[in-house]
Amino acid sequence: MKIAIPKERRVGETRVAASPDTVKKLVGMGFDVIVEKEAGIAASIPDKQYQEAGATIMKDFSSTVSQAKIILKVQSPLHKGEGELDEISLLPREAVLIGMLSPYSNREQLNYYIKSNITSFSLEFVPRITRAQSMDVLSSQTNLAGYRAVIEAAHVFDRAFPMMMTAAGTIAPARVLVLGAGVAGLQAIATARRLGAVVSAFDVRAAAKEQVESLGATFVFVEADESGEGSGGYAKEMSEDYKKRQSARIKEEITKNDIVITTALIPGKQAPLLITEDMIQAMKPGSVVVDMAIEAGGNCSLTELGKVKEKYGVKIVGYPQLATRVPRDSSALYARNVLNFLSLLYDKEGKTLKLELEDEILQAAVLTHGGKIIHPQFQS
Ligand code: NAI
Repeated sequence: MKIAIPKERRVGETRVAASPDTVKKLVGMGFDVIVEKEAGIAASIPDKQYQEAGATIMKDFSSTVSQAKIILKVQSPLHKGEGELDEISLLPREAVLIGMLSPYSNREQLNYYIKSNITSFSLEFVPRITRAQSMDVLSSQTNLAGYRAVIEAAHVFDRAFPMMMTAAGTIAPARVLVLGAGVAGLQAIATARRLGAVVSAFDVRAAAKEQVESLGATFVFVEADESGEGSGGYAKEMSEDYKKRQSARIKEEITKNDIVITTALIPGKQAPLLITEDMIQAMKPGSVVVDMAIEAGGNCSLTELGKVKEKYGVKIVGYPQLATRVPRDSSALYARNVLNFLSLLYDKEGKTLKLELEDEILQAAVLTHGGKIIHPQFQS
């Protein structure tokens, strides 16, 4: 059975859906693995490493996916009018497509999949249950993004992070404020602490307090009568009264800090606006804001997508998809997530694909199957 790993063609995408390590495992499982030429090049994985792991290299997208039963992608394939190549039209009929397919921002793709009877699985929908942790692409990629946010901040910051006592004088440690202490925020806290910064963090979920403190950071508290916990451990949108109090508290804190990393997201909604222009104006010159929520509208009103903008002496970093800026590690972890997900579709004894969708993980992730849209959120 053929399994294809094409090169990613979307702008800014540097990752690849398989690593030499996962290719080796797929070959061991009995798959015929085809990798498109230079698919791993942006992640520093030369074709030779895939070949040594047992893959065949094909020269272009079309020859890579031709007759493949399974196609592994990072992002959704391009469709007509989206780029240099109409990748979806080249996918073999009845293939199984696995990737972070972003159906909310790219709803049209589902119609193309059903036309070709493609079974598509979107890994962002894998439920966050214990059994699925090894398939959780949101965690693996967001964790690295949180790390990278701090590195981006350090890169444009005009001071050092750690306290340094030298013969020429003492340098004070950088002060970092993290807004939103989920997966990205906690890794940002840990990274900033490792670099020697003094870190504080804030979240609407009370459960975050203990996690923040266990990493050696101070939890910034906002008095409230309401809980910030929504369903599934995610945050919910807060009342106007809370937002006002939170805003006043952030304004107070922000002027004491040199670097602010914002990660606050509410599932299915625009990111909450936490930093306004007057707050940026009140920050010390030379301060840095890294807005990790930029793809969901941003947590800061001045962030520009894909840019480092300077306003009132403050640098505001708006790079999207920060995991793409550590592509070797993000690809390695993503490839493992994909392999673990694929194992749910694999019949070890018969060495065949079993497309039984009763498993709750498969049920949550499937978008289209049997020429129909299956996912309840996209049926109308
Ligand atoms: P996320 O990416 O949806 O949001 C990031 C953070 O922003 C969250 O901590 C959220 O509470 C916070 N936030 C939202 N609105 C805010 C506001 N106005 N001000 C400040 N902060 C705000 O969340 P993520 O990182 O995906 O984590 C969500 C939850 O899922 C967490 O409880 C996490 O521990 C849990 N989780 C569970 C996993 C599992 O059981 N397998 C795996 C990964 C995460």
